[in-house]
Amino acid sequence: MPTVGILGAGAMGSGIAQVAISAGWSARLIDVSTETMDKAIEDIGKRLDRNVEKERMSAEDAASARQRLYASSINDLADCDVFIEAIVEDIDIKVSAILPLLEILPDEAIIASNTSSLSVSELGERIGAPERTCGMHFFNPAPIMKLVEVVRAKQTEQAILDRAVSIATSWGKKVARCADTPGFIVNRVARPYYLEAFRCLEDGLADPVAIDTAMKTIGGFRMGPFELTDFIGHDVNTATTRSVWEQWGRPDRLMPSQTQERLVSDGHLGRKTSCGVYDWSGDSPIAILRPSQDGAPHTNELIQLADRFCQAATDNADIPSKLNAAQQLSFLRILAAVLNEAAWAVEDGVAEKLDIDVAMKAGVNYPHGPFEWREAIGSDLVDEALVILSKTAENDRFVPPA
Ligand SMILES: NC(=O)c1ccc[n+]([C@@H]2O[C@H](COP(=O)([O-])OP(=O)(O)OC[C@H]3O[C@@H](n4cnc5c(N)ncnc54)[C@H](O)[C@@H]3O)[C@@H](O)[C@H]2O)c1
Repeated sequence: MPTVGILGAGAMGSGIAQVAISAGWSARLIDVSTETMDKAIEDIGKRLDRNVEKERMSAEDAASARQRLYASSINDLADCDVFIEAIVEDIDIKVSAILPLLEILPDEAIIASNTSSLSVSELGERIGAPERTCGMHFFNPAPIMKLVEVVRAKQTEQAILDRAVSIATSWGKKVARCADTPGFIVNRVARPYYLEAFRCLEDGLADPVAIDTAMKTIGGFRMGPFELTDFIGHDVNTATTRSVWEQWGRPDRLMPSQTQERLVSDGHLGRKTSCGVYDWSGDSPIAILRPSQDGAPHTNELIQLADRFCQAATDNADIPSKLNAAQQLSFLRILAAVLNEAAWAVEDGVAEKLDIDVAMKAGVNYPHGPFEWREAIGSDLVDEALVILSKTAENDRFVPPA
C-alpha cells in the first residue's frame, strides 16, 4: 500500500492527509502536539462523513480511508514512499525537524515541502538531500483546492519531480510544475489582481463596488479584488505581497499598496475583523474605503482602448456596454497587469505558459488562464494596451518583457 508520511497536523497537513487517504493511500500523520493530532483526526473523520452525506464518496470508502490514517511518531516512517512537511514557516525549524527523520525514511523516499515562501533549494541543501527534495505546494483547504504546484529546486532530480507529479495527479489534483522562485506561480501572478485594484482606487478611478462588479461581470471572476482581499485577510495578503516584492528585487509591478497596508495598521483586516475595504457587520457588505479625489486620467484614447479590450476579453458581449467607462478602464488596468505579470513569470523562468494557465485556473479559480486569455483578446491588442497604459502610468509597471 503506498504510504505518505506527513509532518504537521495543522490546517495543511491534515488536509493533505485527507486527500491521500481518500485516494487509497495510507497516511502517517505526526505532530508535536497531541491535542492538534487528536483534533486533526477527528476533523478528517467529520469531513469524510460530510462527503458521504453529500454523496461524494461511499460509506465503505470513507470507512476504509479512516482505517488508513495513522497517528504516528517519527519511528513509523520507514515504509513511506513520500514524506511531506507542513509545519511552521521557519527554515531553521523545518531543517531541525526533518534531519532526524532522514535516518528512518527509505533512501528513495521523496522529501517534499509544502512551504509557500521559503527556498526549497536551501531546505534540500541544509538537510543534505538536495536531489530528492522538492516542493509540493497544496492550497488551503487542501481537500477542496485542486492545485498542487510541484516545485523544482536547484538540484532536484527529474525522476523525483516526475514521481511527485504522478502522485499528486493520482490524488485527483491538477499539477503545475514550476521553479523554486519567490511566490512560485500563483502567489506571484495573482499579485496585480489585488495591487492594481488598490491603485485604481488610489487614483480615484472608481469605488470598490464598481471595481469588484467590473471584474466579476466582464471577466467572470468569482470574487472581485476587494471582496477577495477582505476574505483572505489584508494582513495575510500584504505579507505575501511584501515578501514576493522584496525577494524579486522590488519591481514597480509588485510594489505594495500603501492604502492596503494602512488597513492592516488600522486593524481593518477584512471579514475576520468585520471591517476591511467593506464593513461586513450588517446583512450585506458596505464599502467604506472611498476612491481618492484625484481623478484618474480618462483620455479618449484610454476610454476607446478599454471598450475594445473589454469586448475582446469578455465571454458575454452584452456586458461591457452596461458598465461605465471607469469600470471598463479598471478592468483593462487590472487584467492587463495580471497578463503582464504572467509574461514576466515566463521571462524569469518561473514556469511554462501552460503550467501558469493551469495554476491560475485551479489555484485561484480564474475563469481563463492568462495565456489563454491573451490569445482570446489578441496579442496585438494586449501589447497595444500595455504601451498605452505605460504612457499614463507614473512608473514601469505596465512595461512588458522585451
Ligand atoms: N495555511 C495556508 O493557507 C497554507 C497554504 C499553503 C501552504 N502553507 C504552508 O504549509 C505549512 C503549514 O501551514 P499550516 O497553515 O498548516 O500551519 P498550522 O500552524 O496550521 O500547522 C502547523 C503544525 O505543525 C506543527 N509543528 C510545528 N513544529 C513541529 C515539529 N517540529 N514537528 C512536528 N509538528 C510540528 C504544529 O503543532 C502545527 O500543528 C507552512 O509551511 C505554510 O507556509 C500554508
